[in-house]
Amino acid sequence: MAQLTLALAKGRTATDTIKLLEKANIIFPNFYKKSRKLVFYSADKSIEMIYVKAIDVTTYVEQGAADIGIVGRDNILEANADIYEMLDLKFGVCKFAIASLKELSLARGSSIKVASKYPRVAANFFEKKGIHAETIKLNGSVELAPIINMADCIMDIVETGSTLKENGLSVVEDVEPISTRLVVNKASFATKTEAVQQFVEKIKNVLE
Ligand code: PRP
Repeated sequence: MAQLTLALAKGRTATDTIKLLEKANIIFPNFYKKSRKLVFYSADKSIEMIYVKAIDVTTYVEQGAADIGIVGRDNILEANADIYEMLDLKFGVCKFAIASLKELSLARGSSIKVASKYPRVAANFFEKKGIHAETIKLNGSVELAPIINMADCIMDIVETGSTLKENGLSVVEDVEPISTRLVVNKASFATKTEAVQQFVEKIKNVLE
C-alpha cells in the first residue's frame, strides 16, 4: 500500500511539477499530461498520485483524502483551507492584480464592481482598502467583464501580461505574488510525520 497520497494540479504547472518530482527521484511511469486516468503510482509504489483540478487540490488535502498537494498560491488563497503550506516550489510564477480598461481611482469609501475567478481574494483586497466591492464570480475569460460593461475591473492572474494587452486592459494595482506551493494535511503531518518529512526533504534538496 502507498505510504502517501499526493494531489497534483492539472493545468499549466503539471509538467513542471512532474519534472521536479522526477528530479527528486519520485517517478510516475504511467503519467502523461493528457491522460484521462485520475490515479497514478510512483515506480516504487510508495506514492499514490491523484491528478485533479487545481481549484480542488486544497479540498482533497484539507479533507485528508490527500496527504500532500502541489498547487498554485492563487488557489490556496481563494480556498482559505486549514492546511500547512510547506514549500515555495518557485515555478508557476505570476501575480494577482487588479486590471481595468481605463484609469481607476481606488479611493477609500468608494464603490466598485469586480469580476474574478477568485471572489474571496478580490473581496478581501477591497475590504482592506475600505472600498465597497460587489464581486462577480466568473470561471474564465474574466477580461471580458469590463469590455462588456459588466464590471469596473477584474482581479485576476497576470503572467506575461499578454491577455490583458490583447484585450486593452492594464494593471491598476498589484495584489499578491503567486507561485506553486507544496501543502500538507495537518493530521497527516502529525501521524505520518516521517513519510511526509522525507517527501518534503527530497523536494527541498532538488530546489536548492
Ligand atoms: C489565466 C488568467 C489570465 C491569463 C493570464 O487564464 O486568468 O486570463 O491566464 O496570463 P498572461 O498574463 O500570460 O496572458 P487561463 O489561461 O488559465 O484561462 P481562462 O481565461 O479560461 O481562465
